[in-house]
Amino acid sequence: MPKITYVSSSGNERSIDVPVGTSVMRGAVFNDVEGVVAQCGGNMQCATCHVYVDETTLDKLEPRQPGEDEMLDFTACTRRPNSRLSCQLKVTEAMDGLIVHTPERQD
Ligand code: FES
Repeated sequence: MPKITYVSSSGNERSIDVPVGTSVMRGAVFNDVEGVVAQCGGNMQCATCHVYVDETTLDKLEPRQPGEDEMLDFTACTRRPNSRLSCQLKVTEAMDGLIVHTPERQD
């Protein structure tokens, strides 16, 4: 099972085995990871699942789809080039070792 590391803005770090086929957001929510709210439950309507992908692991991800790109304009914390909506990051084996940083706030 791919292992994903979540690092909070306060420096808490958790590495979690997340099942293939779920999402980086669900891996966070089901394990009470600090800093991911996911108000809309993964329907790409809230941007409260915003994460910053660690620069060293960006190559593990597919590019954003247009809808995700638009929603990233509504994040509570500043959008950066490595910003993603974690609900849109469907977990694959290739994502083993992915590191994401959760923002200071989501709303
Ligand atoms: Fe709402 Fe990702 S959970 S956009």
